Amino acid sequence: MDVSIREVQVQDKAQWRQLWDGYNAFYRSVVTEEITENTWQRMLSDQSSIFGRVAVVEGEVVGFALSVLHEGTWVTSPICYLEDLFVAENQRGRGIAGKLIQALIDEGKAKGWSRLYWHTATDNPARKLYDRFTPVEDYVRYRMNL
Ligand SMILES: CC(C)(COP(=O)(O)OP(=O)(O)OC[C@H]1O[C@@H](n2cnc3c(N)ncnc32)[C@H](O)[C@@H]1OP(=O)(O)O)[C@@H](O)C(=O)NCCC(=O)NCCS
Repeated sequence: MDVSIREVQVQDKAQWRQLWDGYNAFYRSVVTEEITENTWQRMLSDQSSIFGRVAVVEGEVVGFALSVLHEGTWVTSPICYLEDLFVAENQRGRGIAGKLIQALIDEGKAKGWSRLYWHTATDNPARKLYDRFTPVEDYVRYRMNL
């Protein structure tokens, strides 16, 4: 199976949207149309620190990784936060998410980012994949909606 990873492009919108809906259903979350559209536009904009990479199999977008580059007080080069990762159900278990993560690592090394990180639920079975990249840290997350 030939999987390519590339930047998200304007013509991916319908396919990305279907995956995005699947991702939000997985998290039982409702993201409004306004936010969804805004996120899509920011991914395509050079002015935004949000960016998207997609996995393509036989011309079809089957997965995505959405990330945010931000500054840090302990480093001078950008830090990449991988915020959203999703692969279509019928394409799972074929290494596609692994390729999306590896592409971010390669890009970050090439562009001089200092760090890549992501969060996941403690019981997410995808940890089997994540553990192959780096050991888990002994931190917990506190989050407040404001
Ligand atoms: C997590 C997710 C992106 C993984 O995509 P994927 O393309 O199937 O992952 P990979 O094929 O690269 O995974 C490689 C390994 O991890 C395991 N793995 C990854 N995700 C898994 C999952 N959800 N359930 C069971 N095993 C999983 C695979 O079994 C595989 O192991 P193997 O090579 O020993 O068989 C996909 O399952 C998904 O979209 N899940 C719903 C959304 C989600 O959980 N996103 C991540 C939030 S942090």
